[in-house]
Amino acid sequence: MQPVRIGIVTVSDRASRGEYEDLGGPAIREWLEKALTTAWEGVARVIPDEQPVVEQELKDLCDKEGCCLIVTTGGTGPAPRDITPEATEVVCEKILDGFGEQMRAVSLQYVPTAILSRQIAGVRGKSLIINLPGKPKAIAECMEAVFPAVPYCIDLIEGPFLETNPDVVKVFRPKQS
Ligand code: MTE
Repeated sequence: MQPVRIGIVTVSDRASRGEYEDLGGPAIREWLEKALTTAWEGVARVIPDEQPVVEQELKDLCDKEGCCLIVTTGGTGPAPRDITPEATEVVCEKILDGFGEQMRAVSLQYVPTAILSRQIAGVRGKSLIINLPGKPKAIAECMEAVFPAVPYCIDLIEGPFLETNPDVVKVFRPKQS
């Protein structure tokens, strides 16, 4: 069996120019390594905050690289260069508002500035795309908040069957009638 492919996209002008170490991408990888028991491989990208570049990268990861899940980090705030949610919205066929709602609700228990994140999630074909903020600390906080619903979402869009370590995150799949 081929490993499941997961896109890990750091959206940051400075990290893409090498002026700043990418901490977000490795934090996503580390969290997934702890959480997933299904064999998987990461497809990592570090790209600038340019909307056409982000859109193209997301499309490639879905349509060419066959990633069933793509997690972005960075570019969700209100600053002029923050365009990750806009790019995500353009490439997705369906927006899953509950992801953003849940991530902000949980994140507000950690920091009042969580209200500044415009992070969204959506589906393109058989891929689920989730935006996370840029701070490495926010990555685990947000993944824990939404990941219980991620494997079932991927089931519904006809992607691979993902399993997790229940000590890290307990997946919820409604019982079939
Ligand atoms: N969410 C969590 N869970 N933890 C955090 O520390 N930081 C916030 C917010 N969401 C934060 C968080 C801050 S300070 C900002 S500016 C926004 O995410 C947007 O971050 P981004 O522009 O790096 O995506």
